[in-house]
Amino acid sequence: MLENKTVYLNGQYLPLNEAKISVMDRGFLFGDGVYEVIPAYHGRLFYLRQHLERLDNSLAAIRLANPHTREQWQAILAPLLDAGQNQYIYLQITRGVAVKRDHAFPENIQPTVFAMCSNIMPFAGRDAGIKAVTMDDSRWKLCNAKAITLLANILHRQEALDQGSAEAILVRDGYVTEGAASNVFAVIDGVLLTPPKGHDILPGITRDVILEIAQTNHIACREEAISLAQFKSAEEIWVTSSTREIIPVVELDGQPVADGKPGPLWQNMDQLFQAYKQSLS
Ligand code: PDD
Repeated sequence: MLENKTVYLNGQYLPLNEAKISVMDRGFLFGDGVYEVIPAYHGRLFYLRQHLERLDNSLAAIRLANPHTREQWQAILAPLLDAGQNQYIYLQITRGVAVKRDHAFPENIQPTVFAMCSNIMPFAGRDAGIKAVTMDDSRWKLCNAKAITLLANILHRQEALDQGSAEAILVRDGYVTEGAASNVFAVIDGVLLTPPKGHDILPGITRDVILEIAQTNHIACREEAISLAQFKSAEEIWVTSSTREIIPVVELDGQPVADGKPGPLWQNMDQLFQAYKQSLS
């Protein structure tokens, strides 16, 4: 049964089980749309400007005009939040409902806009760390756009789960790109490394926050390509996202990462991250 919370659909707030879209929606037929996941702590959206900038970039990548200004987005999302909870907004925009199924963009079409809010559940394994497995990145060349077309990502994640791991770490041409639904960090020779932005990864907002915190706190850190061989000998590995924050990886491909426990830099960064969140909410 669907949870009957209030959601936003095309200008209306309504119960989730009454929110309906046409089967002719291009999101349903083609995966023709983009999305955002925006955390909110104590009712305040975290890094909203940066999430809306990324939304602009994702929309531009699929040649869809942004239907709302930043102020309008803020006004649309605010009523969905509950100040007593840690939550995240899921926001999706598709090209809209077409008269007929045709790959080409239809003319005179209104985008479909949907938003809902969910509580952030504590992620099991966060404190003890998780297992991850590496696999060949089967995705396309637009990984920097947050497209709803996530078939490759879900197959990677499921493959990891089937192997008893919590995340898939994707590798392209011998270099680590990112997780199935997360960015990747590694501590190598005492330096915090993360692959550079580009078409192979989603420019994660959590990733940006970590780089900012590292800089402010004089933690040695670089955006640099990481080969699989380097990655496998890392002192620490983390995966990061808005909903799970910073998760230490303690086992990679069945081998312990260093001593198989969350590392000291993770402990430090996690504390700094939590304090920074508190200071902004
Ligand atoms: N995904 N890379 C991919 C492929 C992702 O799907 C995500 C997050 C990230 C991390 O981005 P951010 O720090 O902005 O959350 C990186 C979200 C949480 C999701 O699809 O649910």
